[in-house]
Amino acid sequence: MAYKIAIIVGSLREGSLNRKVARSICGIHGDDLDCAMVEIGDLPLYNQDLDGNPPEQWVRFREKVAAADGVLFVSPEYNRGIPGVLKNAIDVGSRPYGQSAFDKKPAAIVTVSPGSIGGFGANHQIRQAAVFLNMPVMQQPEAYLGHVTDDSFDASNCLKEGPLKDLVTNLAHAFRNWVDMIHTSRRLIAEDAAHVAARNQQEHV
Ligand SMILES: Cc1cc2nc3c(=O)[nH]c(=O)nc-3n(C[C@H](O)[C@H](O)[C@H](O)COP(=O)(O)O)c2cc1C
Repeated sequence: MAYKIAIIVGSLREGSLNRKVARSICGIHGDDLDCAMVEIGDLPLYNQDLDGNPPEQWVRFREKVAAADGVLFVSPEYNRGIPGVLKNAIDVGSRPYGQSAFDKKPAAIVTVSPGSIGGFGANHQIRQAAVFLNMPVMQQPEAYLGHVTDDSFDASNCLKEGPLKDLVTNLAHAFRNWVDMIHTSRRLIAEDAAHVAARNQQEHV
């Protein structure tokens, strides 16, 4: 079965390295992961006063995230932290209180930078938000992709063969298995609980 993955890219730049890496991850996984980019550039800034009558862009964004089986964050680091546009999307998706679209969704976090630290700061700030959002985040492999430049991609904007592509391929497989493990274990636990409930009911007849 193909799992539906919402990919949220933290860069609005047309030639974004992060977007190219996100597309490469989708390409690597083909039929196993049904990936769709969920755009965040049109989301009005989060304002709690609007929760009663939310802008249609917020509603659309929340619906797309809620419909996914998992979420993949692919983001640059801005000034050692989460780009504002991504933090806004996280805030929009997390509200109204108690109705977060992110709740319980398995997630992975990839940060991409031409710099050597590979967006470590942003990666862990997203991780910090994911803890509060109750998202089981894949722990390994960690993905701080440094030294990524336009030259890392071929003319079709796919990652060139080499260690970076190997790492991203490994990550894509691990994420597929992570999403599968979370959903399979939840289904088995629910089946087990239903089985126990049915048996208890029979014993009381
Ligand atoms: C406002 C701003 C702040 C940045 N801060 C960082 C930073 O803290 N760490 C880093 O590795 N790169 C930083 N960069 C460089 C980005 O990693 C680089 O521009 C990257 O290409 C952005 O990702 P994108 O190609 O997906 O748009 C920053 C870039 C901008 C525009």
